[in-house]
Amino acid sequence: MHQPVEGFSKLTKDEKIDWIANNCTKDPDAAKKLLQQYWNTNPKVQNLHEEFIENTLSNYYLPFAVAPNFLINGNLQTIPMVIEESSVVAAAGKAAKFWLTRGGFTTKVLGTEKVGQVHFMFHGKQQVLSEFITSIQPKFEAETESLTKNMRKRGGGITSISLRDKTRQLKGYYQLHCTFDTLDAMGANFINSCLEQLAKTLEREAKEYPVFQKNGTPLAIVMSILSNYVPNCLVRAEVSCPVSAEKSETTVSQGFAERFIQAIAIAKSEPFRAVTHNKGIMNGVDAVVIATGNDFRAVEAGVHAYASKSGEYSSLTHAAIEGGHFKFWIEIPLALGTVGGLTSLHPLTKLALEIVQQPSARELMQIVAVAGLAQNFAAIRSLVTTGIQKGHMKMHLLNLLNQMGATADEKRQLVEYFRDKAVNTSTVKEGLELIRKQ
Ligand code: MEV
Repeated sequence: MHQPVEGFSKLTKDEKIDWIANNCTKDPDAAKKLLQQYWNTNPKVQNLHEEFIENTLSNYYLPFAVAPNFLINGNLQTIPMVIEESSVVAAAGKAAKFWLTRGGFTTKVLGTEKVGQVHFMFHGKQQVLSEFITSIQPKFEAETESLTKNMRKRGGGITSISLRDKTRQLKGYYQLHCTFDTLDAMGANFINSCLEQLAKTLEREAKEYPVFQKNGTPLAIVMSILSNYVPNCLVRAEVSCPVSAEKSETTVSQGFAERFIQAIAIAKSEPFRAVTHNKGIMNGVDAVVIATGNDFRAVEAGVHAYASKSGEYSSLTHAAIEGGHFKFWIEIPLALGTVGGLTSLHPLTKLALEIVQQPSARELMQIVAVAGLAQNFAAIRSLVTTGIQKGHMKMHLLNLLNQMGATADEKRQLVEYFRDKAVNTSTVKEGLELIRKQ
């Protein structure tokens, strides 16, 4: 263990690297070399990355891939994905192709409402507070005007400010519950700036409100922050095709549809399964969210809260056979942006957005929902037919071979060798030994 360090953030990058290498690694020279190896050769690009966060030492690469052939509302899309898990992109591509001949994906944005709250304590009569809040509504509007001006010009802004009585949950606890339309921006900074201004107005007005003045103001602000729970910033994606006795290019078989629906029913009724089921959905969702420079932690938090909205954690996807058609759909809350933040800073997120045809935030919501639905379709399809390991381990083969130090030629030979064989650590080890003996 090393000693605490003072003023680390003020050291130069080289000094930080020296400190880390000398205090936290067994081989300081190797550590320094490795960190430097991952620097971008273009100092401008490197500098950009360093300035995203504090104490940057190097860059951490993840693969940037694409899954082609997604037919979404009749428009063909190639979806960019950033993810490390071997089988995810291949699964997305397979699901896209499967639905390409069966009508593709249809999507619809059900709402774009964002939420933020000023949390405060009030010890007095609820009726008096309610009258006070109503009386200062024009002040809320006037004092946020300069912040909301640009957003309003484009048709967005603060859409409501209402008082919520939370005293049943916590003594004295109230909120200004605010809703926003942030258009193509994810809007976190806009929302938080508006909320902090609303809190200032609320606090000042409470101090000056004659009815409160007798015993000193009974109102105290606790905090102001957006909510990542956005149940009304919702998008739906769906696939549907006829059911037939045997599968064809345009149908699914009755047997498959029934097994698929059972798998969804299990995820709906059993939280242990639902969490893994939804994790598979998030493989697709997060990969696109990251590729397009959006905040995957915000999306994850909001999505899982939504999956628990009934009081029990459940599946985000649904399936049914209706009128001879197999239907499979997802409803998922997604607060995304296609302007501002990382979307306009990181060169690869700009490219990712270009690949998906410069979408609006609403369009991106639909693309991300499709990626989630496709991923879930691919997982359930494998689970109820071949089992997940077949495809999963095939894709993992190169990782295993890299771990075992296989050369490019050995990898080529073994990929061919395992085309019709089961992949696991011991079979791959045996296969590698075999070709090395030869
Ligand atoms: C693995 O990353 C995701 C799956 O476990 C999802 C699922 O079980 O539905 C395959």
